[in-house]
Amino acid sequence: MIKLIKSTFYKEKEIKKKLCEFIMNSSQLSIGKECRKFEEKFAKWQKRKYCVMVNSGSSANLAIIQALLNLGRLRKGDYVGFSAVTWSTNIMPLIQLGLKVIPIDIEIDTLNVSSNKLIEKLNKYPVKMLFLTNLLGFCDDIDKIKEICDKKGIILIEDNCESLGTVYKGRKLGNFGVASTISFYVGHHLSTIEGGAICTDDEELETMLQIVRAHGWDRHLTKQKQLKIRVKHNVNSTFYSRYTFYDLGYNLRTTEINGFIGNAQMKYIDEIINKRKNNFLRIAASIYKNTSMYYPIKYDHIDLISNFAVPVICRSQKIRNELVEKCKDKIEIRPIVGGDMVLQPFFKKYVNNFVGENKNAKIVHEQGLYFGNNPELTEEEIDKIIKIFTT
Ligand SMILES: Cc1ncc(COP(=O)(O)O)c(C=O)c1O
Repeated sequence: MIKLIKSTFYKEKEIKKKLCEFIMNSSQLSIGKECRKFEEKFAKWQKRKYCVMVNSGSSANLAIIQALLNLGRLRKGDYVGFSAVTWSTNIMPLIQLGLKVIPIDIEIDTLNVSSNKLIEKLNKYPVKMLFLTNLLGFCDDIDKIKEICDKKGIILIEDNCESLGTVYKGRKLGNFGVASTISFYVGHHLSTIEGGAICTDDEELETMLQIVRAHGWDRHLTKQKQLKIRVKHNVNSTFYSRYTFYDLGYNLRTTEINGFIGNAQMKYIDEIINKRKNNFLRIAASIYKNTSMYYPIKYDHIDLISNFAVPVICRSQKIRNELVEKCKDKIEIRPIVGGDMVLQPFFKKYVNNFVGENKNAKIVHEQGLYFGNNPELTEEEIDKIIKIFTT
């Protein structure tokens, strides 16, 4: 059986040994120096000014929405557009925090929202924020999407949990929006077991994210910023200053264990991405040619493609069901991410004013599947995958 995920993280044995030593010699395992070091390394690698580490990609999504609300850049009742094919915890915080959610259909050949699909929705709704998901290492014309958002004053946030390392027109995905969210869950490009982050160049947003991440207090701010916020709120007692809560927050903190693993993984990040890229290019060149069975997937507009799974969108549900049977006990397969979100029970329960359908998202939901692409796939396994999907 070719599993979707082969290990908890890259170089598992070697890093686990070092982790044991680290734990034995550490006096602090709650958030601290290792996490800070990871944030710095990761921000530099992503080419962003700031990185705020949290305990999952879902927490990153929740934190960014709460931070935008706390800053008054978003208000309860605002319309937020989102990619119709995404993960549940992209939309859930929007619903939980009182925003109106507008699904935007994807293009069937890139699996992502395009500027055309965005414009169709902007003609109907006064969208204040776009929560774009860069699905499975791909993107459509995200540069044009950014241009539209800039022109219309729409806040663009990218969920980059599935596309770490993809480069489009010379720029890494995750660097088009005001901020981007990342998941470090097992099986994603870079694993810290559980973990996530938000990257941004916006200092005000970074400061608010630090407050949102930990209880709404100022503990993780710089001394200078603590002083500023304390003066603003008239907090001049050292007895109370550590227990003053300035804005709405949660406890989304991660631990030094995750920080340590993240730092150890950072050594290999480009190697991991490169291996996934090579696997994908080899598999895609064989499988996607079969356009009578599968919808063609376009990726020649992308400079470097980095994904953790390979999507296949079948021409019919019958073909997909036959493949499910063929892969049984041989290749682990799954539906494409969370599928078409409007078909999910939670969406039907909480978003009762939604009318219409997203044609392409529905095809992906009903006729799509994916299998894993990880850096530990062997040549024989790749051959086996190609054989099953081409004969
Ligand atoms: C697009 C996307 N966003 C967010 C998440 C949530 O990340 P996590 O599992 O770290 O909470 C996932 C999960 O895989 C995802 O695919």
